[in-house]
Amino acid sequence: MYALRAATTVEANTTEKIKEAVEELWSKFTAVNGFEKEDIISVIVSSTKDITAAYPASFIRGMGYGEAALLDVCQLQIDGEIPLCIRLLVYTAKPGRNVYLRDAARLRPEWSFDLEEASGPRPRSAIKKITPYVPGKPIDEVKREYGLTDVIKLASNENPFGPSQKALAAAAEALQSVRLYPDGASYELKTSLADFYGLRPEQFIAGNGSDEVIKMLSEAYLSEGDNIVCADVTFSEYEFGARVMGAEVRKVPLKDYKHDLSGFLANIDARTKICYICNPNNPTGTIVGEREILEFLEKVPGNVLVVVDEAYSEYVESPEYPDFKKLIGAYPVVVLRTFSKIYGLAGLRVGIGISSPEIIQNIEKTREPFNVNLLAQAAAAASLKDQDHIEYCFRENAAARREFYQRCREAGIEYVASEANFVLIKVDGAEAIVRKMLERGVIVRGTSSFGLKDHIRVSLGTKDQMDRFWQVFTEVRDGGMKQ
Ligand SMILES: Cc1ncc(COP(=O)(O)O)c(C=O)c1O
Repeated sequence: MYALRAATTVEANTTEKIKEAVEELWSKFTAVNGFEKEDIISVIVSSTKDITAAYPASFIRGMGYGEAALLDVCQLQIDGEIPLCIRLLVYTAKPGRNVYLRDAARLRPEWSFDLEEASGPRPRSAIKKITPYVPGKPIDEVKREYGLTDVIKLASNENPFGPSQKALAAAAEALQSVRLYPDGASYELKTSLADFYGLRPEQFIAGNGSDEVIKMLSEAYLSEGDNIVCADVTFSEYEFGARVMGAEVRKVPLKDYKHDLSGFLANIDARTKICYICNPNNPTGTIVGEREILEFLEKVPGNVLVVVDEAYSEYVESPEYPDFKKLIGAYPVVVLRTFSKIYGLAGLRVGIGISSPEIIQNIEKTREPFNVNLLAQAAAAASLKDQDHIEYCFRENAAARREFYQRCREAGIEYVASEANFVLIKVDGAEAIVRKMLERGVIVRGTSSFGLKDHIRVSLGTKDQMDRFWQVFTEVRDGGMKQ
């Protein structure tokens, strides 16, 4: 949950003027933050004593926000108080910005919502609904913010062992040629991928991270008024891609932390263009098995593209995990993979889409000419040739996961069994724990920005990093309980 502020002033103490000011404030506050009705949890409306003609909160209710808890209260009368002023304290499900209008902007100039801004260039209305992505905090930022020298990051599911030495050597060599543009078609990379997976080069599209592939897919398949179906909770880029295109997002709650594919089917309609299955799912680490996914694909209408995001596939141990070639061969499916996770190249940005040549051609039309840089292409292709390194990272991760479960059981912490390189744990007061751990130099990820409260996603690190995690987590949790 988040708490935001807004304020405005009223021209005169009449019902009409109060209504006009509240409606202006509320519509700007919700529009600039892209809030939908379900994002508003409660609003405390505090008015100065000279506002008596009407209850200001009633006008928020009148705009369709009756589901939220609304309360009118009276502002303290302190000398120098701005007259006819209405202040809001809004509890929301998503982060956003504070909005101060009219004379109230004098109270907090840094939160002033310049009325001129609204009459300047206006983005498309779809853009207003986009909530910025909340990434794991970078190590250097945490060092600067808290004056720390030793910080570990277990917040973005990166590979603690880094890339193959072969990838680094290839990137170093490619550095000699950076005056030239990269090969826009990523020919070498696609040929290496085709060899590695036993497919054809035309079955691949390369992106500046799979994030970019998701954006390209959205551009190729979504128009305003279309919809996507995805899990609630899951990786946020699917929603982002849809929102950019003005499409609706239909979220199907997880069942026991797993995708509910019958719920997906129930949500598909004539405007559904893409279904996203994150497998393993971020942030739960759970998977959909091959039989279940094939049954689902049999029932999905043929005009719906099913995107199976396999960013963490290389970490999976379960024999139930789908063979992706059975999916892309027979159905309109795009499988996403990335070099950011087990291949350890998150900083270089390479992700891929794998599908039929026809689907790939459609997505290719939205691709920027030189989207994957020279070093990234070279490093990614070389890293495929070092599967010993991948095997090593897989084994270490599997051992770290088992050890993590053991520590959870010993500490009485509830965890979700994961097939990925992270584990979701359930803890009361998760966001406060995350903040306190950050102050002590351990970055982990609270999942309230995913819409899942009281959980923390912990990326699995080296043995030393995990020991430090448990030491700080225990300190913070036990310290918190004593308070
Ligand atoms: C499920 C999932 N898909 C895709 C990505 C994005 O990966 P990339 O670095 O290739 O953009 C992530 C990153 O965290 C992820 O968790």
